[in-house]
Amino acid sequence: MFNETNTLTNGIEIPKLGLGTWLLDDEQAHQAVRDVVSIGYRHIDTAQAYMNETGVGKGIRSCGIAREELFITTKVAAELKNYDAVTKSIDGSLAKLGLDYIDLMIIHSPQPWKEFREDNRYFEENKVVWKALEDAYKAGKVKAIGLSNFLQDDIENILTSCEIKPMVNQILAHVRNTPLSLIEFCQENDILVEAYSPIAHGAVLDHADVKVIADKYGVTVAQLCLRYNIQLGLVVIPKTANPDHMRNNAELDFIISDADMESLKHVEPIQDYGEHSFFPVFGGKLK
Ligand SMILES: NC(=O)c1ccc[n+]([C@@H]2O[C@H](COP(=O)([O-])OP(=O)(O)OC[C@H]3O[C@@H](n4cnc5c(N)ncnc54)[C@H](OP(=O)(O)O)[C@@H]3O)[C@@H](O)[C@H]2O)c1
Repeated sequence: MFNETNTLTNGIEIPKLGLGTWLLDDEQAHQAVRDVVSIGYRHIDTAQAYMNETGVGKGIRSCGIAREELFITTKVAAELKNYDAVTKSIDGSLAKLGLDYIDLMIIHSPQPWKEFREDNRYFEENKVVWKALEDAYKAGKVKAIGLSNFLQDDIENILTSCEIKPMVNQILAHVRNTPLSLIEFCQENDILVEAYSPIAHGAVLDHADVKVIADKYGVTVAQLCLRYNIQLGLVVIPKTANPDHMRNNAELDFIISDADMESLKHVEPIQDYGEHSFFPVFGGKLK
């Protein structure tokens, strides 16, 4: 799996499999990056909001692999919606990570988390945020730029005014919750889709119907979910700090049949994400 990449519209290669680091603190992220790189991963996903860029950076600088072999993504905090704040935050990410450049910088969300999916769409502000990303790209601070959690009209808003088109959109996409029409829209516009929470943040692991299909292929539910997303053309960034899970998530050398792909697209939609349902990305509301 480690050598498989997608090519962004500017020719940059992004590994199809990366490590997610949400909810890991600096120390855990430091160790997880070292472990995952030693296993063979070359792609790490972090964000300003995860408060672990320092730990991720320490892991990168001490892992023994040359910087240019690695693909590092971070995200501009959802609340930053003006040019100067975004530019300053990109410099802050570079400093915390201890890097000369970031491989992929994305806007974490079209709206601040407290207003996620509410009426104020921040269309004008997001054009300004995008301009700051374009300028960071031209300055060589970031090698690629993209979006996260953008719906079709949020993307169209950027496409109508941008100089450089978004290269990725990182969105919630997993078995039991696959936004097929948004994926199709992105792919038609040459925007690579990255699937976040590809294992449903854990909420799909004990689903009986999914387990039956995983058993048929002799794989774990986590592996089936990752392979499903990859066959849809998506990049996957499963989170774990457990080296056994890191290895398991990289063993994806099997092919899901067309019929099983169709079944997986239509497994009973997820109702809630259990104790994690309060997060805005899972439909919750922050106070
Ligand atoms: N852009 C956004 O707004 C956004 C939002 C959410 C997430 N993300 C990104 O996407 C990444 C992944 O999403 P996520 O953290 O929500 O969840 P996820 O990767 O879907 O699921 C993580 C859960 O799956 C478990 N797991 C992982 N591999 C496993 C395996 N092989 N066998 C059994 N269990 C396994 C983990 O447990 P263990 O830890 O015990 O292994 C953890 O409980 C994040 O870390 C972050 O980088 C981005």
